[in-house]
Amino acid sequence: MLKVKIAVFVSGGGTNLGALLEAQKNGELKSGEIRLVVSNRADAFALTRADCFGIKTNVILRKGKTPAEFEDELISLLVENEIELIVLAGFMCILSNNFTEKFKDRIINVHPSLIPSFCGEGYYGLKVHEAALKYGVKVTGATVHYVNEIPDGGEIIMQKAVEIDETDTPETLQKKVMQQAEWVILPVATEKVCKKLLEEK
Ligand code: GAR
Repeated sequence: MLKVKIAVFVSGGGTNLGALLEAQKNGELKSGEIRLVVSNRADAFALTRADCFGIKTNVILRKGKTPAEFEDELISLLVENEIELIVLAGFMCILSNNFTEKFKDRIINVHPSLIPSFCGEGYYGLKVHEAALKYGVKVTGATVHYVNEIPDGGEIIMQKAVEIDETDTPETLQKKVMQQAEWVILPVATEKVCKKLLEEK
C-alpha cells in the first residue's frame, strides 16, 4: 500500500514520537510511514526511541549556523528522503516563513494547550502549563495544528480537553496533558492528514 513518507522533528524526550511509533506498529497509523527522525540536539532521548524501532535518525545542530543555513540542511535531508509530511513532536525551534511556505499544508505540530490559549512565541514545554495554572483555567488540553508562518497559528486539526485539579503542579499537569491528550490525538491527527494526502495524490 502507498504510504505518505513522514519525518518527525524532535528536541527532547520524545514521548510523542513514542506514541507515533507505537501507532505505526499497531496499525493505527496506516496511511503514513515514519521514515526519518530529525533532532536539533545530539542528546535527545527521542533518538534512542527511534533507534529501538529501527528508524533512521539524523542530528542537525542549529548552534553556530545562521537560521537559513540550519534550514537549508533540514531541507536537503527532507528532499533526499522524499519526505511528504513533517510532524513536529516537541521540536523546540521556530521555523521561518521560507521553510513553512516550502512545505505548505505538510507540517503539523502538537502543542500542549487548547489553542488559542497559552500559545505562540515563548510558550513551550513546561512554560505552557505554568501559564495555565497561573491564569487559573480549570480546563486545558492539547492541540494538533498545521504549521504556517504564525507560531501556533495554523489551522486546527484536532483538540482534546483535560481537567485541571486544584492540586496540580506544572509537572503533574504536563504529564496529564501528555497522557490524556497529546499521545491520544497526535497519532489520530497524523493518520487523518496522511489519509487526506493520499486521497489527493
Ligand atoms: C510536549 O508536551 C509537546 O507538546 C511540547 O513539548 C513536549 C515535548 O515532549 N511542545 C511544545 O511546547 C511546542 N510548542 P516529548 O519530547 O516527550 O514529546
